[in-house]
Amino acid sequence: MYETNYTEVSEFIFLGLSNSRPMQHFLLVFATVFYGMIVLGNLLVILTVTCDLHLHSPMYFLLANLSFIDMCFSTLTVPNMIFNLFSGHKTISFQGCVVQIFILHILGGSEMLLLTAMALDRYIAICKPLHYLTLMSPRMCILLVSGAWSLGLLHSVIQIAFVVHLPFCGPNKIDSFYCDLPWFIKLACMDTYNLEFIVTANSGFITMGTFFLLIISYIFILLTVWKKSSAGLSKAFSTLSAHIIVVILFFGPCIFVYVWPFPTVPVDKFLAILDFLITPILNPVIYTLRNKDMMSAMRRLSSQLLNMKKSS
Ligand SMILES: *[C@@H]1O[C@H](CO)[C@@H](O)[C@H](O)[C@H]1NC(C)=O
Repeated sequence: MYETNYTEVSEFIFLGLSNSRPMQHFLLVFATVFYGMIVLGNLLVILTVTCDLHLHSPMYFLLANLSFIDMCFSTLTVPNMIFNLFSGHKTISFQGCVVQIFILHILGGSEMLLLTAMALDRYIAICKPLHYLTLMSPRMCILLVSGAWSLGLLHSVIQIAFVVHLPFCGPNKIDSFYCDLPWFIKLACMDTYNLEFIVTANSGFITMGTFFLLIISYIFILLTVWKKSSAGLSKAFSTLSAHIIVVILFFGPCIFVYVWPFPTVPVDKFLAILDFLITPILNPVIYTLRNKDMMSAMRRLSSQLLNMKKSS
């Protein structure tokens, strides 16, 4: 019976965020505006850091790398979501779904590790300022960045290896606007309890592990500053609070998707909006508008561009 009914699933259908027409129009405008800001803001950060020699330091290199990942991260899901909202066409091919999961996990893993590298950078700068230049050398910086990317890739390859051969025969509706492992695995025609456990263990462990590591290291940095002088604390706190907000907003939804054991409340797809549309815009906003060096670098860059225009 099972054998004869077996039909290959060649595409998946996204149920999206909402069925109501006005809500879809709102989401379309919201996603388009935010995606535009994400691309422009992050390109501006990358351009400013690359062009301005004053910003050639580990902190800004890491920041530019974070901007690059953020931009790719939302480009992976948001344009497709906008297209689906616009056209009413809601399918994704089987291969497309697997590729989306694969890239999603490379970028997500790398972003988490890069945030950890940024915390390490701040730890050395604040707690060991005399050793900063020797510890955070350009080589160290390249090592951290390439380490983040390779571990992200490794994590994603391991995850995909477990699910790529799953049989799919029946339901093909995904209650979200993008593909990710928890929903993908549930659609397979076999008992996937063990697989779900593996995914929760792998993605969940990385998410929770890096999250607690980051929170503990920020608390540690703040305590160190506090012991030295309470005047320094407020300055350090204003820098670090920005990092901490980004970390909580980025990790919160991931923890919900991978670790939250009660899937009856469909909040995870709405929380995913935070990861794809809100945190990617926070980095440029937080780091550029609140950072004097970044602002003056942008002023220099824009006056250079204006001069170039005048002289040409
Ligand atoms: C990422 O970091 C590396 C290593 O410091 C740096 O050479 C590179 O320019 C950075 N990438 C971007 C997009 O800024």
